[in-house]
Amino acid sequence: MKYFIVTYGCQMNVHDSEKIAGILENMGYTPCQTREEADIIVFNTCAVREGAEDRVFGNVGNLKKMKKKNKNLIIVVCGCMTQKEETAQKLMSTFPFIDIVLGTFNLPRLGYFIEAVKKGRQLEVLNEGDIDEVLPYKRTSGENAWINIMQGCNNFCTYCIVPYVRGREKSRKEENILNEIKELLKEGKYKKFTLLGQNVNSYGNDLNDGTTFAKLLHDICALDGDFTLSFMTSHPKDLNDDVIEAIANEEKIEKYIHLPAQSGNNRILKIMNRKYTREKYLDIIDKIRAKIPNCRLTSDFIVGFPGETDEEFEDTYSLIEKVRFDSIFAFMYSPREGTVAARMENQIPEKIKHERVNKLLALEKRIQKEDNKR
Ligand code: SAH
Ligand code: SF4
Ligand code: F3S
Repeated sequence: MKYFIVTYGCQMNVHDSEKIAGILENMGYTPCQTREEADIIVFNTCAVREGAEDRVFGNVGNLKKMKKKNKNLIIVVCGCMTQKEETAQKLMSTFPFIDIVLGTFNLPRLGYFIEAVKKGRQLEVLNEGDIDEVLPYKRTSGENAWINIMQGCNNFCTYCIVPYVRGREKSRKEENILNEIKELLKEGKYKKFTLLGQNVNSYGNDLNDGTTFAKLLHDICALDGDFTLSFMTSHPKDLNDDVIEAIANEEKIEKYIHLPAQSGNNRILKIMNRKYTREKYLDIIDKIRAKIPNCRLTSDFIVGFPGETDEEFEDTYSLIEKVRFDSIFAFMYSPREGTVAARMENQIPEKIKHERVNKLLALEKRIQKEDNKR
């Protein structure tokens, strides 16, 4: 019996797919190279922008023929998209041939659902459940091992769907994280560990036992072994001096910070609910550059947030020009149903979003060219 997994979205999802693979291999499935060979196909979806969701609808739709040919083929759609009740319903009504639809909170129960489908071939949706610490991962990223340190997000940036599909912040116990890394070090295969969370800097806030992200970084670096340590994503409102010091002083920590700014304009930052200003962001960058020479810096930006004027967009442009990031990701604002920003007036036409995103990408190219020359 063979499985094929299609993964969309962020590293969190890449890592979740390693869990899906672990569950399937425990049940006796083995991986295959094409979906044609598969007995079970899993789509691990992303909901962050409309484009990501459209691709899932297209790709799942294409399986209709395969399902007709092979009645025993099991099709699973899971991940962030299906954690939204309406989207889960829409998927099931559009594609009645899908066997299992389950949300992010229910991933650990995938095996149970597959067994149920094999017996009765019924469709299930479930959107409640717990995180687990026990299920195995089938790691697929070579010398790098992804380590989940927390899940969810409490920030509710007004454009973002993630808090709705990943729930509130929940930190794993430090002891469990350290044990996981110790075990992996014993295996001897891994040279790099990348800690994952939507906002790693708030790691430990919910544990109320004095654990902080900076402490976690120091404690991991104190483990014996030859490895580098990396993490994502940092939120500018929570990236504090202790963490900057840790990156500066711990040899094992990679000198790289992904620090999404989203906008360079204070009015837009405020209505995005980002809780920092342009000035605060630039202060952090100054601090990083003073303490960590040659630190690589990357960022995310959203253009065309509701009401964004040309002048406000220029502030984003000038921020990028000022910081000279090593690279940036520039996204056109995509309204997500259920979020505050989707209900705001003055939605920006697609044409203007395109123009703005192209301007940022041209700027990035120019900066990279100049820096390469230097
Ligand atoms: N937790 C991380 C990443 C979240 S999603 C953070 O806080 O930065 C990754 C990126 O997708 C975000 O940084 C943002 O730039 C972008 N994004 C999120 N929602 C979006 C939306 N509705 N439209 C366009 N881009 C979006
Ligand atoms: Fe989304 Fe903001 Fe949370 Fe990042 S910090 S996941 S952008 S709500
Ligand atoms: Fe990641 Fe997309 Fe979910 S960015 S957390 S897979 S909505």
